[in-house]
Amino acid sequence: KKISIIGAGAVGASVAQVLAIKDVADIYIFDIVDGLAAGKALDIQEGAPHWGFDYKLRGFCTADEKEYENLKGSDVIVVTAGLARKPGMSRDDLLLKNIGIMKDVGEKIKKYSPESIIVAVTNPADIMAYALQKASGIEPSRILGLGGSLDSARFRTFLAEALDVSVEDVNAFVIGGHGDDMVPFIRYSSVSGIPIEHLLPKEKIDEIIKRTRFGGGEILNLYKTGTAFYAPSISIAVMVESIIKNKKRVIPCAAYLTGNHAKHYGIENMFIGVPIKIGASGVEEIYDLQFNEEDKAAWEKSVESVKKNSKLADD
Ligand code: NAI
Repeated sequence: KKISIIGAGAVGASVAQVLAIKDVADIYIFDIVDGLAAGKALDIQEGAPHWGFDYKLRGFCTADEKEYENLKGSDVIVVTAGLARKPGMSRDDLLLKNIGIMKDVGEKIKKYSPESIIVAVTNPADIMAYALQKASGIEPSRILGLGGSLDSARFRTFLAEALDVSVEDVNAFVIGGHGDDMVPFIRYSSVSGIPIEHLLPKEKIDEIIKRTRFGGGEILNLYKTGTAFYAPSISIAVMVESIIKNKKRVIPCAAYLTGNHAKHYGIENMFIGVPIKIGASGVEEIYDLQFNEEDKAAWEKSVESVKKNSKLADD
Protein backbone atom coordinates (compact mmCIF):
# COMPACT_ATOMS: atom_id res chain seq x y z
CA LYS A 1 0.00 0.00 0.00
CA LYS A 2 1.13 3.54 -0.72
CA ILE A 3 -0.05 6.87 0.64
CA SER A 4 1.16 10.11 -0.92
CA ILE A 5 0.99 13.48 0.79
CA ILE A 6 1.35 16.60 -1.35
CA GLY A 7 2.47 19.51 0.84
CA ALA A 8 5.10 18.83 3.54
CA GLY A 9 4.20 21.78 5.74
CA ALA A 10 2.85 21.61 9.28
CA VAL A 11 -0.22 19.52 8.43
CA GLY A 12 1.41 17.34 5.75
CA ALA A 13 4.41 16.38 7.88
CA SER A 14 2.28 15.81 10.95
CA VAL A 15 -0.15 13.53 9.10
CA ALA A 16 2.85 11.66 7.65
CA GLN A 17 4.08 10.93 11.14
CA VAL A 18 0.65 9.87 12.44
CA LEU A 19 0.19 7.52 9.47
CA ALA A 20 3.72 6.15 9.88
CA ILE A 21 2.95 5.31 13.50
CA LYS A 22 -0.26 3.60 12.40
CA ASP A 23 1.98 1.37 10.22
CA VAL A 24 -0.46 0.97 7.33
CA ALA A 25 1.47 1.88 4.17
CA ASP A 26 4.61 3.39 2.62
CA ILE A 27 4.42 7.15 2.70
CA TYR A 28 5.63 9.41 -0.10
CA ILE A 29 5.76 13.12 0.73
CA PHE A 30 5.93 15.88 -1.90
CA ASP A 31 6.58 19.60 -1.62
CA ILE A 32 7.51 22.39 -3.99
CA VAL A 33 10.33 23.51 -1.69
CA ASP A 34 13.49 21.61 -2.53
CA GLY A 35 14.59 19.23 0.22
CA LEU A 36 11.67 19.89 2.56
CA ALA A 37 9.75 16.66 1.88
CA ALA A 38 12.93 14.56 1.78
CA GLY A 39 14.05 16.03 5.10
CA LYS A 40 10.71 15.42 6.81
CA ALA A 41 10.53 11.86 5.44
CA LEU A 42 14.00 11.02 6.72
CA ASP A 43 13.38 12.64 10.09
CA ILE A 44 10.16 10.64 10.60
CA GLN A 45 11.80 7.43 9.32
CA GLU A 46 14.59 7.74 11.86
CA GLY A 47 12.02 7.45 14.65
CA ALA A 48 10.90 4.05 13.31
CA PRO A 49 13.07 1.98 15.66
CA HIS A 50 11.23 3.48 18.62
CA TRP A 51 7.76 3.59 17.09
CA GLY A 52 8.22 0.11 15.63
CA PHE A 53 7.03 0.65 12.06
CA ASP A 54 8.61 -1.01 9.03
CA TYR A 55 7.01 0.92 6.18
CA LYS A 56 9.23 3.39 4.33
CA LEU A 57 8.96 7.15 3.94
CA ARG A 58 10.43 9.07 1.02
CA GLY A 59 10.33 12.75 0.06
CA PHE A 60 10.27 14.46 -3.34
CA CYS A 61 10.36 17.95 -4.80
CA THR A 62 7.41 18.77 -7.06
CA ALA A 63 9.36 21.53 -8.80
CA ASP A 64 11.13 18.69 -10.62
CA GLU A 65 8.68 16.94 -12.95
CA LYS A 66 10.67 13.70 -12.76
CA GLU A 67 10.26 13.57 -9.01
CA TYR A 68 6.50 14.17 -9.35
CA GLU A 69 6.32 10.84 -11.23
CA ASN A 70 6.77 9.11 -7.88
CA LEU A 71 3.09 9.81 -7.30
CA LYS A 72 2.35 6.78 -9.53
CA GLY A 73 0.46 3.92 -7.90
CA SER A 74 -0.71 5.82 -4.80
CA ASP A 75 -3.72 4.23 -3.11
CA VAL A 76 -4.53 7.51 -1.39
CA ILE A 77 -3.27 11.04 -2.04
CA VAL A 78 -3.68 13.62 0.73
CA VAL A 79 -3.47 17.19 -0.58
CA THR A 80 -2.28 19.75 1.96
CA ALA A 81 -0.33 21.95 -0.49
CA GLY A 82 -1.15 25.62 -0.35
CA LEU A 83 -1.40 28.58 1.91
CA ALA A 84 -2.71 28.52 5.47
CA ARG A 85 -4.52 31.33 7.26
CA LYS A 86 -2.72 34.15 8.98
CA PRO A 87 -4.34 35.79 12.05
CA GLY A 88 -7.33 37.87 10.97
CA MET A 89 -7.76 35.96 7.70
CA SER A 90 -10.83 33.80 7.13
CA ARG A 91 -10.57 30.47 5.33
CA ASP A 92 -12.31 32.08 2.38
CA ASP A 93 -9.56 34.67 1.94
CA LEU A 94 -7.27 31.89 0.87
CA LEU A 95 -9.61 30.79 -1.81
CA LEU A 96 -8.28 32.10 -5.07
CA LYS A 97 -4.62 31.41 -4.39
CA ASN A 98 -5.32 27.87 -3.32
CA ILE A 99 -7.63 27.21 -6.28
CA GLY A 100 -4.63 27.97 -8.53
CA ILE A 101 -2.48 25.47 -6.63
CA MET A 102 -5.23 22.79 -6.84
CA LYS A 103 -5.34 23.20 -10.63
CA ASP A 104 -1.63 22.43 -10.79
CA VAL A 105 -1.81 19.54 -8.31
CA GLY A 106 -5.00 18.11 -9.90
CA GLU A 107 -3.37 17.99 -13.34
CA LYS A 108 -0.40 16.09 -11.91
CA ILE A 109 -2.72 13.61 -10.20
CA LYS A 110 -4.53 13.09 -13.51
CA LYS A 111 -1.21 12.46 -15.26
CA TYR A 112 0.46 10.18 -12.74
CA SER A 113 -2.10 8.56 -10.48
CA PRO A 114 -5.70 8.88 -11.72
CA GLU A 115 -6.76 5.71 -9.88
CA SER A 116 -6.06 7.12 -6.42
CA ILE A 117 -8.52 8.22 -3.77
CA ILE A 118 -8.01 11.87 -2.91
CA VAL A 119 -8.35 13.55 0.48
CA ALA A 120 -8.52 17.34 0.09
CA VAL A 121 -7.26 19.23 3.12
CA THR A 122 -6.14 22.61 1.78
CA ASN A 123 -8.63 25.29 2.81
CA PRO A 124 -11.40 25.95 2.17
CA ALA A 125 -11.51 22.17 1.77
CA ASP A 126 -14.99 21.79 0.23
CA ILE A 127 -14.00 24.16 -2.55
CA MET A 128 -10.53 22.62 -2.97
CA ALA A 129 -12.13 19.17 -3.33
CA TYR A 130 -14.25 20.66 -6.11
CA ALA A 131 -11.24 22.33 -7.78
CA LEU A 132 -9.23 19.09 -7.55
CA GLN A 133 -12.06 17.10 -9.06
CA LYS A 134 -12.33 19.48 -12.00
CA ALA A 135 -8.59 19.52 -12.64
CA SER A 136 -8.01 15.78 -12.18
CA GLY A 137 -11.21 14.43 -13.74
CA ILE A 138 -11.30 11.78 -11.01
CA GLU A 139 -14.62 10.11 -10.27
CA PRO A 140 -16.19 12.45 -7.65
CA SER A 141 -16.98 9.60 -5.22
CA ARG A 142 -13.22 8.99 -4.97
CA ILE A 143 -12.62 12.47 -3.54
CA LEU A 144 -13.26 13.46 0.10
CA GLY A 145 -12.60 16.75 1.85
CA LEU A 146 -11.51 17.29 5.45
CA GLY A 147 -13.85 19.29 7.58
CA GLY A 148 -16.32 17.31 9.61
CA SER A 149 -13.77 14.83 10.92
CA LEU A 150 -11.84 17.68 12.56
CA ASP A 151 -14.80 19.91 13.43
CA SER A 152 -16.58 16.96 15.07
CA ALA A 153 -13.46 16.14 17.11
CA ARG A 154 -13.42 19.72 18.37
CA PHE A 155 -17.17 19.64 19.08
CA ARG A 156 -16.81 16.37 21.03
CA THR A 157 -13.86 17.75 22.98
CA PHE A 158 -15.81 20.85 24.11
CA LEU A 159 -18.95 18.82 24.94
CA ALA A 160 -16.99 16.30 27.01
CA GLU A 161 -15.35 19.14 28.91
CA ALA A 162 -18.71 20.78 29.68
CA LEU A 163 -20.30 17.47 30.72
CA ASP A 164 -17.23 16.23 32.59
CA VAL A 165 -17.46 12.81 30.91
CA SER A 166 -15.05 10.74 28.82
CA VAL A 167 -14.79 12.13 25.32
CA GLU A 168 -15.04 8.56 24.04
CA ASP A 169 -18.69 8.47 25.10
CA VAL A 170 -19.60 11.74 23.37
CA ASN A 171 -21.12 11.05 19.99
CA ALA A 172 -21.54 14.33 18.14
CA PHE A 173 -20.85 15.60 14.67
CA VAL A 174 -20.61 18.65 12.48
CA ILE A 175 -21.89 18.91 8.91
CA GLY A 176 -21.93 21.63 6.23
CA GLY A 177 -19.03 23.51 4.71
CA HIS A 178 -15.74 23.70 6.62
CA GLY A 179 -16.15 27.43 7.16
CA ASP A 180 -17.65 29.82 9.66
CA ASP A 181 -21.17 28.61 8.72
CA MET A 182 -20.53 24.94 9.55
CA VAL A 183 -23.41 23.17 11.30
CA PRO A 184 -22.66 21.43 14.64
CA PHE A 185 -25.61 19.04 14.71
CA ILE A 186 -26.66 18.99 18.34
CA ARG A 187 -30.01 17.26 17.83
CA TYR A 188 -28.31 13.98 16.88
CA SER A 189 -25.61 14.31 19.55
CA SER A 190 -25.56 12.12 22.62
CA VAL A 191 -23.55 10.77 25.52
CA SER A 192 -23.84 7.01 25.10
CA GLY A 193 -27.29 7.50 23.59
CA ILE A 194 -28.55 10.13 26.08
CA PRO A 195 -29.44 13.27 24.08
CA ILE A 196 -27.07 16.11 24.95
CA GLU A 197 -30.00 18.55 24.77
CA HIS A 198 -31.29 16.82 27.94
CA LEU A 199 -27.97 17.25 29.73
CA LEU A 200 -26.83 20.80 29.06
CA PRO A 201 -28.72 24.13 29.18
CA LYS A 202 -29.37 25.82 25.84
CA GLU A 203 -27.02 28.73 26.59
CA LYS A 204 -24.13 26.32 27.20
CA ILE A 205 -24.90 24.41 24.00
CA ASP A 206 -25.00 27.66 22.02
CA GLU A 207 -21.66 28.67 23.49
CA ILE A 208 -20.12 25.31 22.48
CA ILE A 209 -21.57 25.54 18.97
CA LYS A 210 -20.02 28.97 18.56
CA ARG A 211 -16.66 27.81 19.93
CA THR A 212 -16.70 24.84 17.52
CA ARG A 213 -17.40 27.07 14.53
CA PHE A 214 -14.40 29.20 15.38
CA GLY A 215 -12.24 26.34 16.72
CA GLY A 216 -9.62 26.79 14.00
CA GLY A 217 -9.51 30.54 14.56
CA GLU A 218 -9.09 30.07 18.32
CA ILE A 219 -5.91 28.05 17.76
CA LEU A 220 -4.68 30.46 15.10
CA ASN A 221 -5.04 33.38 17.48
CA LEU A 222 -3.27 31.49 20.27
CA TYR A 223 -0.39 30.27 18.09
CA LYS A 224 -0.11 33.62 16.33
CA THR A 225 2.43 32.05 13.96
CA GLY A 226 0.31 29.47 12.17
CA THR A 227 -2.79 27.28 12.10
CA ALA A 228 -3.70 24.04 13.83
CA PHE A 229 -2.07 20.81 12.73
CA TYR A 230 -2.14 18.24 15.57
CA ALA A 231 -5.92 17.69 15.65
CA PRO A 232 -6.14 18.08 11.85
CA SER A 233 -3.49 15.41 11.26
CA ILE A 234 -5.19 12.69 13.31
CA SER A 235 -8.55 13.72 11.79
CA ILE A 236 -7.08 13.12 8.32
CA ALA A 237 -5.31 9.91 9.36
CA VAL A 238 -8.55 8.22 10.47
CA MET A 239 -10.08 8.98 7.06
CA VAL A 240 -7.03 7.57 5.26
CA GLU A 241 -6.93 4.50 7.50
CA SER A 242 -10.59 3.78 6.77
CA ILE A 243 -9.80 3.82 3.03
CA ILE A 244 -6.61 1.75 3.26
CA LYS A 245 -8.12 -0.87 5.59
CA ASN A 246 -11.66 -0.64 4.12
CA LYS A 247 -12.92 -0.05 7.66
CA LYS A 248 -16.19 1.64 6.60
CA ARG A 249 -16.00 4.29 9.30
CA VAL A 250 -18.89 6.76 9.29
CA ILE A 251 -17.42 10.25 9.52
CA PRO A 252 -18.74 13.57 8.22
CA CYS A 253 -16.59 14.70 5.29
CA ALA A 254 -17.00 16.88 2.25
CA ALA A 255 -18.54 14.63 -0.41
CA TYR A 256 -19.89 15.29 -3.90
CA LEU A 257 -23.67 15.37 -3.97
CA THR A 258 -25.69 14.26 -6.99
CA GLY A 259 -29.11 12.70 -7.67
CA ASN A 260 -31.39 12.14 -4.70
CA HIS A 261 -28.77 13.26 -2.17
CA ALA A 262 -28.40 16.54 -4.07
CA LYS A 263 -32.18 16.99 -4.00
CA HIS A 264 -32.34 16.16 -0.31
CA TYR A 265 -29.56 18.54 0.68
CA GLY A 266 -30.34 21.30 -1.85
CA ILE A 267 -26.88 21.44 -3.41
CA GLU A 268 -25.89 19.65 -6.59
CA ASN A 269 -22.58 18.68 -8.20
CA MET A 270 -20.53 20.28 -5.43
CA PHE A 271 -18.78 19.08 -2.25
CA ILE A 272 -20.16 19.74 1.22
CA GLY A 273 -19.84 18.05 4.61
CA VAL A 274 -22.33 15.24 5.20
CA PRO A 275 -22.08 11.94 7.09
CA ILE A 276 -20.52 9.34 4.81
CA LYS A 277 -19.26 5.79 4.97
CA ILE A 278 -15.56 5.68 4.03
CA GLY A 279 -14.15 2.51 2.50
CA ALA A 280 -11.71 1.19 -0.08
CA SER A 281 -13.51 2.93 -2.95
CA GLY A 282 -13.77 6.28 -1.15
CA VAL A 283 -17.27 7.55 -0.41
CA GLU A 284 -19.30 4.31 -0.15
CA GLU A 285 -22.53 5.76 1.16
CA ILE A 286 -24.00 9.19 1.85
CA TYR A 287 -26.55 9.47 4.64
CA ASP A 288 -29.49 11.86 4.30
CA LEU A 289 -30.29 13.52 7.65
CA GLN A 290 -33.78 14.65 8.59
CA PHE A 291 -33.82 18.38 9.32
CA ASN A 292 -36.31 20.42 11.37
CA GLU A 293 -36.90 24.10 10.55
CA GLU A 294 -34.02 25.35 12.67
CA ASP A 295 -31.55 22.80 11.24
CA LYS A 296 -32.73 23.68 7.77
CA ALA A 297 -32.02 27.37 8.23
CA ALA A 298 -28.49 26.67 9.48
CA TRP A 299 -27.88 24.14 6.71
CA GLU A 300 -29.07 26.50 3.96
CA LYS A 301 -26.74 29.24 5.15
CA SER A 302 -23.79 26.87 4.88
CA VAL A 303 -24.94 25.67 1.45
CA GLU A 304 -25.08 29.24 0.16
CA SER A 305 -21.50 30.00 1.08
CA VAL A 306 -20.23 26.71 -0.40
CA LYS A 307 -22.16 27.39 -3.64
CA LYS A 308 -20.83 30.92 -3.92
CA ASN A 309 -17.22 29.85 -3.42
CA SER A 310 -17.43 26.73 -5.59
CA LYS A 311 -18.45 28.95 -8.51
CA LEU A 312 -15.12 30.77 -8.21
CA ALA A 313 -13.38 27.49 -9.05
CA ASP A 314 -15.36 27.29 -12.30
CA ASP A 315 -13.49 30.19 -13.91
P1 NAI B 1 2.07 25.12 5.56
O1 NAI B 1 2.29 26.47 4.97
O2 NAI B 1 2.84 24.71 6.76
O3 NAI B 1 2.34 24.02 4.42
C1 NAI B 1 1.89 24.11 3.10
C2 NAI B 1 2.96 23.48 2.23
O4 NAI B 1 2.48 23.42 0.87
C3 NAI B 1 4.27 24.29 2.19
O5 NAI B 1 5.35 23.48 2.63
C4 NAI B 1 4.40 24.69 0.72
O6 NAI B 1 5.75 24.72 0.27
C5 NAI B 1 3.59 23.59 0.03
N1 NAI B 1 3.16 23.94 -1.33
C6 NAI B 1 2.63 25.11 -1.78
N2 NAI B 1 2.34 25.03 -3.08
C7 NAI B 1 2.68 23.78 -3.48
C8 NAI B 1 2.59 23.08 -4.71
N3 NAI B 1 2.10 23.67 -5.82
N4 NAI B 1 3.02 21.78 -4.75
C9 NAI B 1 3.52 21.20 -3.63
N5 NAI B 1 3.61 21.81 -2.44
C10 NAI B 1 3.20 23.08 -2.37
O7 NAI B 1 0.51 25.00 5.82
P2 NAI B 1 -0.23 23.93 6.75
O8 NAI B 1 -0.38 24.47 8.11
O9 NAI B 1 0.41 22.60 6.55
O10 NAI B 1 -1.68 23.92 6.08
C11 NAI B 1 -1.86 23.39 4.78
C12 NAI B 1 -3.28 23.66 4.29
O11 NAI B 1 -4.21 22.88 5.04
C13 NAI B 1 -3.74 25.13 4.46
O12 NAI B 1 -4.50 25.53 3.33
C14 NAI B 1 -4.62 25.05 5.69
O13 NAI B 1 -5.53 26.11 5.75
C15 NAI B 1 -5.28 23.72 5.47
N6 NAI B 1 -5.89 23.11 6.65
C16 NAI B 1 -7.13 22.57 6.48
C17 NAI B 1 -7.80 21.96 7.52
C18 NAI B 1 -9.16 21.38 7.28
O14 NAI B 1 -9.85 21.01 8.25
N7 NAI B 1 -9.60 21.24 6.05
C19 NAI B 1 -7.19 21.88 8.86
C20 NAI B 1 -5.86 22.43 8.94
C21 NAI B 1 -5.25 23.03 7.85
